Amino acid sequence: MYVLFLPLALIFLSAKNVSACNRPYSAWMADSVISRGQAVVQQGSIPSASTYLQVGFFQSAIIRLIDYYHTPGSACAQSDWESYLQTSTDSIKPYLLNATRDTSYPLDRLSTGKGLLHQYEQFHTSTASDALHSLRDSINLQPENALGGYWYFEYPNWSYLDGMYSLIPFLLSYTARFDAKNESVSDDIIHQLDLLWTHCYQNESGLLVHGYDASKTASWANPITGASPIVWDRSLGWYLLALVDSLELSSSFPRRLYDYLQRRLIQLAESVVSAADSETGCWWQVMTLPSKQGNYIESSGSAMFTTALFRAARLGYLPENLTSEARNAAEKCYSHLLNTFVVKNENGTLGYNGTVSVCSLNSSASYEYYVSQPLLYNSIHGTAAFVQASLEQEMLNDAENS
Ligand SMILES: *[C@@H]1O[C@H](CO)[C@@H](O)[C@H](O)[C@H]1NC(C)=O
Ligand SMILES: *[C@@H]1O[C@H](CO)[C@@H](O)[C@H](O)[C@H]1NC(C)=O
Ligand SMILES: *[C@@H]1O[C@H](CO)[C@@H](O)[C@H](O)[C@H]1NC(C)=O
Ligand SMILES: *[C@@H]1O[C@H](CO)[C@@H](O)[C@H](O)[C@H]1NC(C)=O
Ligand SMILES: *[C@@H]1O[C@H](CO)[C@@H](O)[C@H](O)[C@H]1NC(C)=O
Ligand SMILES: *[C@@H]1O[C@H](CO)[C@@H](O)[C@H](O)[C@H]1NC(C)=O
Ligand SMILES: *[C@@H]1O[C@H](CO)[C@@H](O)[C@H](O)[C@H]1NC(C)=O
Ligand SMILES: *[C@@H]1O[C@H](CO)[C@@H](O)[C@H](O)[C@H]1NC(C)=O
Repeated sequence: MYVLFLPLALIFLSAKNVSACNRPYSAWMADSVISRGQAVVQQGSIPSASTYLQVGFFQSAIIRLIDYYHTPGSACAQSDWESYLQTSTDSIKPYLLNATRDTSYPLDRLSTGKGLLHQYEQFHTSTASDALHSLRDSINLQPENALGGYWYFEYPNWSYLDGMYSLIPFLLSYTARFDAKNESVSDDIIHQLDLLWTHCYQNESGLLVHGYDASKTASWANPITGASPIVWDRSLGWYLLALVDSLELSSSFPRRLYDYLQRRLIQLAESVVSAADSETGCWWQVMTLPSKQGNYIESSGSAMFTTALFRAARLGYLPENLTSEARNAAEKCYSHLLNTFVVKNENGTLGYNGTVSVCSLNSSASYEYYVSQPLLYNSIHGTAAFVQASLEQEMLNDAENS
């Protein structure tokens, strides 16, 4: 009796200690971002056009950590997730309260709705609901091209894949919470996604190019479709993540929305899996021209595809044969990300390398343009995507070990 009891107790205690001190990569990278003071509007500074997405994308990563681990302590994390969400939401909220002014920011602004809704559900803060309603009103004020496609930003008639990650999940969450009777939202969502799909679809690769100009006057516009020429990994990453994250939010909407999202997800996931680099398992900055001089494996788009494929497999959105392929592809790229781009600093923080700064269609939109934009260290586009990819990997491991 005693002989048995003692070793069991010791085993139990040591197992518990090991797990309590074993901070998973998701929480470790999140701690590092928070310790650097990123994804918050710093006092005395005004958000730039790209700040909205940085805040919103990292907030969505933190909210997923809370959904899965519940408290930082249970993931051995050192930062206070709720207090980060409060600080970042409070820092951006004042800039969101005027719907007309909101339209002067890219569609990416809508990603901040996640933190606002989180704050509103917890504390019923009236400025949080004011900002949410302003963001919603701003969609109705968003300029459209002749086909009804929302402009991504201030460039007349241009629609980008990028905006969908922020627009669609926001519209779904907002509608479910405040406007459940609005029956035209599903059709609007399908219309926006489908305009991009039909104009940007590339027959040869099954992938989507960065965007299109409905008026076909841009120097780069395809004379028939208006499409830009290049498949850029990060913009397609936003679109694929938009499909998966929207499926997760679609349960109270008409079945036709679910069916549309799932059909596009399956088509695109198959093409994305096929486009993975055979050696590293990850994805090239210019996805359709692997190994061409100047091209490289890009770390933010690769982490987004990894996340989206893991998540689509976990949530059962893919047919059986594609589920295992998607999971294997995600596992393979994840190891490469971890071994190649994650930097372990002496002070115990993690860095993340190899993330392209930004690619705009306000450019030549040529191959040379896409491969000559600077690479950044610790860009939120990379780190927030890596947090989410890591979390998906951890959820899969936990499920397999339980
Ligand atoms: C909202 O922003 C618009 C455009 O910047 C401005 O013209 C308008 O006066 C603002 N409204 C309020 C109530 O501040
Ligand atoms: C944008 O499209 C509209 C038609 O909706 C057209 O009148 C306008 O000239 C276009 N703008 C540019 C810059 O091409
Ligand atoms: C319902 O949603 C549609 C599509 O987004 C929008 O045009 C319309 O204004 C919304 N209705 C209300 C009452 O907000
Ligand atoms: C792509 O394929 C479709 C169907 O086969 C065809 O209608 C379309 O013209 C093709 N598009 C291009 C740009 O080749
Ligand atoms: C999975 O099976 C479907 C139906 O049998 C087939 O059309 C599809 O090409 C397969 N996909 C993969 C990735 O093997
Ligand atoms: C930790 O070290 C890295 C690399 O030197 C640095 O960028 C980062 O700011 C440091 N973080 C803290 C919290 O000191
Ligand atoms: C990031 O990658 C570049 C290019 O490979 C390299 O020069 C740089 O030292 C790396 N940064 C860190 C912090 O590892
Ligand atoms: C678009 O590009 C032009 C030329 O490089 C530049 O002057 C302009 O500031 C750019 N517009 C935006 C909104 O970045």
